[in-house]
Parts: sequence; structure tokens; C-alpha cells
Amino acid sequence: MTHFRYLTAGESHGPGLTVIVEGVPAGLPIDEDYVEEQMARRQKGYGSGGRMKIEKDRAEIRGGVRHGKALGSPIAMWIENKDFANWTDAMSVAAVGDEVDKKTHTRIVPGHADFPGALKYLHHDVRNVLERASARETAARVAASTVARRILEQFDIDIRSHVISCGAEKAPIIDASEIDWGSVEASEVRAWDPDADARYRAAIDTAKKERTTIGGVMEIIAFGVPVGLGSHVMWDRKLDGRLAQAMASINAVKGVEIGFGFDNTARWGRDVQDVIVPDPDDRRRFRQLTNHAGGIEGGMSNGNPVVVHVAVKPIATMTRPLPSIDINTGEVIEAAYNRSDICQIARACPIGEAMMALVLADAFLEKFGGDSIAETRRNYDAYIDSHQEFGVGTNV
Ligand SMILES: Cc1cc2nc3c(=O)[nH]c(=O)nc-3n(C[C@H](O)[C@H](O)[C@H](O)COP(=O)(O)O)c2cc1C
Repeated sequence: MTHFRYLTAGESHGPGLTVIVEGVPAGLPIDEDYVEEQMARRQKGYGSGGRMKIEKDRAEIRGGVRHGKALGSPIAMWIENKDFANWTDAMSVAAVGDEVDKKTHTRIVPGHADFPGALKYLHHDVRNVLERASARETAARVAASTVARRILEQFDIDIRSHVISCGAEKAPIIDASEIDWGSVEASEVRAWDPDADARYRAAIDTAKKERTTIGGVMEIIAFGVPVGLGSHVMWDRKLDGRLAQAMASINAVKGVEIGFGFDNTARWGRDVQDVIVPDPDDRRRFRQLTNHAGGIEGGMSNGNPVVVHVAVKPIATMTRPLPSIDINTGEVIEAAYNRSDICQIARACPIGEAMMALVLADAFLEKFGGDSIAETRRNYDAYIDSHQEFGVGTNV
């Protein structure tokens, strides 16, 4: 990402998370309440562990914004870890003596970052790995994405998400434009369908009784994306490739599908292409009859909603731990148990939305540029107007 970039720092139980977002056009309206609203969405979810009850995240803006507007300089944010009060010795920046409890961790959790992280970084205390591998880091990404969302909102791009499967339970397939997003937001399991909502909860309850975890699949949709974000001309400019990388970087994500990529493989080719027809009322001057491609063809947005399906695995820490090893002694033991959730799929949705926003904002600024949001707007309007020169109703 070069046009809109961000870096995050901080550990799960450290003093807090730091985010720097760069490439923001001047004049973009930004305030802490808007950021907080988005951050709160990351914290909801049925079957969440204890931490969500401890902390209500607030990202303080510490640079790059003046009088409610972006200055064009990097935006710095700070998310304090309220839980740090209980970890001052264990996560102390300064060296501490052996008399304090360092909450050292040596029991590997299979499926977590513990094993490769300890060997790669030569850490004998696995806490040095898990503190950063934890999904706590995604709070910083969600904070960064609020700026990306603000840019996209100026151009009527709206990002939504819901859970299309939880464990073995699936929601009925429905056209995204027909989903009542109010009921998705009201559902703790982010199901649009009340029947799916009940089945998802039952699946989570069963897994809890079994003292294990379950995964799920989320659908992330961006409405209002103009034609032409990303490019076919070079592998690393392709929008589908960029989205796949961003989604796969979310903790516990093990699969990414653009549109109905996997299901389409079982259909005839003639049934999965999106046929184009003239339409003078569409700002593209044409429209597709279907959206099997998930709004991306040749690595470019085609003006349809951009649809990505993301598979989140059942997470690794369980109240009934698996057999494992102690990294220092090699002794066979039970894996460590940490406070943990049963199913993260609902909580992963705002993170998926965040990654969609971050990728689209980058691709949007790559296409339209602008040091100020007014300049971005002029470039955008001129580009959209230029599509009027394409014929509709003529034999082009
Ligand atoms: C919202 C969310 C919450 C998570 N919470 C936990 C957790 O409580 N316990 C756990 O073992 N893994 C949790 N994970 C997953 C781990 O962070 C992840 O599995 C681990 O870092 C190993 O990386 P990998 O699964 O991507 O290979 C969570 C993931 C997400 C998206």
C-alpha cells in the first residue's frame, strides 16, 4: 500500500496500541466519536471471552487533525489498554527482577503463533510471541480504517458485513441489496435471518459445552465502488489480489473467496459470467445482469458491489486443551489455556470491513489522488463524467 498506508505497534497486555495513518487528504472530517463508534462494533459478539467486558476501546487522536479536519499530515492514534494496570510487571518496558511475576509462558498452544514464533525469534518465553500475535492488534487496524471509511463515505462507498456460516450452520443466500442491515447490527451473531441467528447461537452453545471452538465464514460487501479501482496491468495492482492479502492477514483467517469463486467452479462457464447490457441510467452507462464475479474483473472493480467471503478457523485456545509440549524442556504437557472465545466470526466482521476499507481507500487514492479532499472530489467527478462519452444504445 503506498497511497494510503498505516503501521500499528503494541502488545495485547502492554500499555496500549499506536497507529499512524499516512496519505490522508487534507480537509477530511475526522472526530474521536466517529472513531469510537466503529471501535465499539469490534467488541460485540455472542460467545466472546472476558476481555470484551473489561475494555471499552477509545482511540485518542494525537496528531494530524485540527478543528475536526485532517491536516494532510500523518494521523497518530493511541488506544490505551485498560487491562495494563494488571500487567505492569509482566509487560514492563524496563527490566524487572526475578522476584516479580513475569507471567512467563512456555506451554505451546497448537494452532497459535507460539511454536514457529519462539523458534524463529529465539524466544524462550512464548509470551514474547503471543502478545503481538493476538487479535488485539486488530483494534489498531479498525482505528486506522475509520479514516479510510471517512474517505470512502465522501464518495458514497458503504461497507457492510454479515455472517454467512457459523460452524456447520449456514444462512440462506440472499442478494446483498435485500439485506436489512439494521437487523444484522442488532444480531449478536451478525445473521440477517432470525432462523440462522438461532442456529448460530445453538452451534456456539454446543461448542461451549464440548469445551471447544468453531469457525465461520463472513461476507464483506462494499457498495458504491466506482468502476476502475485496481488494475490489470501488474500483479501487485490487482484489486482482488490486494483484498485477498489483506483479508488473509486477519488473525485466524484461512480462506478468501472473491464473489462466488468456489461455488462457481461447479457451474457451467456460461452460467457464471456477468452479462453486460446498456443502461443509460447507470453511471457506468452499462450494467451487469448478475454479480457472480463479486464486482471485480481483471483485477479492477467493475462498478458492482465488491463481495468477499472470508473463512475464519476455529481458534486455538480451548478450555479443554490439546496435548502439547513445553518449548524449553520438550516435556509433553497440556497446551496453555488463556481466556478465550468460542467463536470469533461475528467479531471478525468489523475487522473484515476494516481491511476492505483500507484496501479500497488505497486503491481509490491511487486512482484519484489529491492532497486535499476537494481535489480528490474534482478528479473523481471528472472521471465519472468522462464515462458519458461511451455510447449506450449504439453498436459500439
Ligand atoms: C476477533 C478475533 C479474536 C481472536 N481471539 C482469539 C482467542 O481468544 N484465542 C486464540 O487462541 N486465538 C484467537 N484468535 C486467533 C489468533 O489470533 C490466531 O489464530 C493466531 O494468531 C495464529 O494465527 P493464524 O490462526 O492466523 O495462523 C482470534 C482471532 C480473531 C479474528
